[in-house]
Amino acid sequence: MFDKKTVLTGVKPTGTPHLGNYLGAIMPAIEMGNKAENHYMFIADYHAINAEKDPLVLKQKIKEVACTYLALGLNPNHSVFYRQSDIPEILEITTILYAYTPKGFMNKAHAYKACVDKNREAGKPDDDGINMGLYTYPTLMAADILSFDTDIVPVGKDQVQHVEIARDIAGAINAHYGKDLLHLPEYYLKENVEIVPGVDGRKMSKSYGNIIPLFDDDKTIKKAVFSVVTDSRPMDEPKDPESVMVYEIYKAIATPEQLKEMADGLREGRLGYGHVKNMLLDAIINEIKEPREKYNYYMAHYEEVEAMLQEGAAKARPVAQQTLKRLKDAVFGK
Ligand code: ADP
Ligand code: TRP
Repeated sequence: MFDKKTVLTGVKPTGTPHLGNYLGAIMPAIEMGNKAENHYMFIADYHAINAEKDPLVLKQKIKEVACTYLALGLNPNHSVFYRQSDIPEILEITTILYAYTPKGFMNKAHAYKACVDKNREAGKPDDDGINMGLYTYPTLMAADILSFDTDIVPVGKDQVQHVEIARDIAGAINAHYGKDLLHLPEYYLKENVEIVPGVDGRKMSKSYGNIIPLFDDDKTIKKAVFSVVTDSRPMDEPKDPESVMVYEIYKAIATPEQLKEMADGLREGRLGYGHVKNMLLDAIINEIKEPREKYNYYMAHYEEVEAMLQEGAAKARPVAQQTLKRLKDAVFGK
């Protein structure tokens, strides 16, 4: 479904990734990008400043996310890989889109609404701590998408609404000027992505502090894996694999044969928690061995990554420039 299509993926620089991010977001994004005829992949750094105000922290997060994607197999010769802030045309396009963005869209956008709800729960004024960057971010996201004549935006459920907003804004502009100035994007919902559980059994998430990190050293990863919750059943007691959290996490990463081996061993009372934790650890370390080396390499040779991002921006910019020209010609008259 992605051949002959332009696919665009945006990632927020949120810092060091965990196993859940890798299996739930990064791997599918890279795979989809590889299948697309054109793939734009960018780091949404202007989105990030709404929340992250420390330049050093932000810089580090951008560095980590860039190295992560490259380490995990993003191919910069196929995917146009760039930083949003290196394409200033996106911001000019955003300004034009503002004139066609009903304020009501922003009121209804869920990221803003979630903040309002939180404020209400805490008994604070609705807009406490909410900046205009957060409030208007669906318009910037629309410009990210529309600047590159995107056909498909792969998203999780939470981002569907934003792609629809982009479509609506583009439709309004096209209708007003009576021509197809902007290409209408579609979202592609990544429905079959499994949620990877964390060491405490809840969804693995930075905010729960239950993660298995991806690129830390073996010792740190081992510590995380050995902290996965278990009960006090003895080793030789036959267990339903589904009742063992280590098995639930293993599902996300093991081959069918490996999974069967663990399931049989648990059912037959042959494998205890120590055994299955070691199996999980081996599978994780095997999976990340090479990417981790690459990650460490890129982190230590960031100038190479910077050069790739510059090259990506040099490819992306002319496309956004053309879109901007089309829009300006229509808006201001030729
Ligand atoms: P976190 O919950 O750790 O803050 P983010 O919200 O930054 O993670 O998620 C970044 C991406 O990783 C999102 O696309 C999200 O769907 C995916 N993701 C995060 N946690 C998991 C998980 N436990 N299982 C599968 N995918 C996940
Ligand atoms: N809003 C997206 C998120 O929170 C990131 C993003 C910004 C994006 N611009 C985009 C995603 C354009 C896809 C297309 O994850």
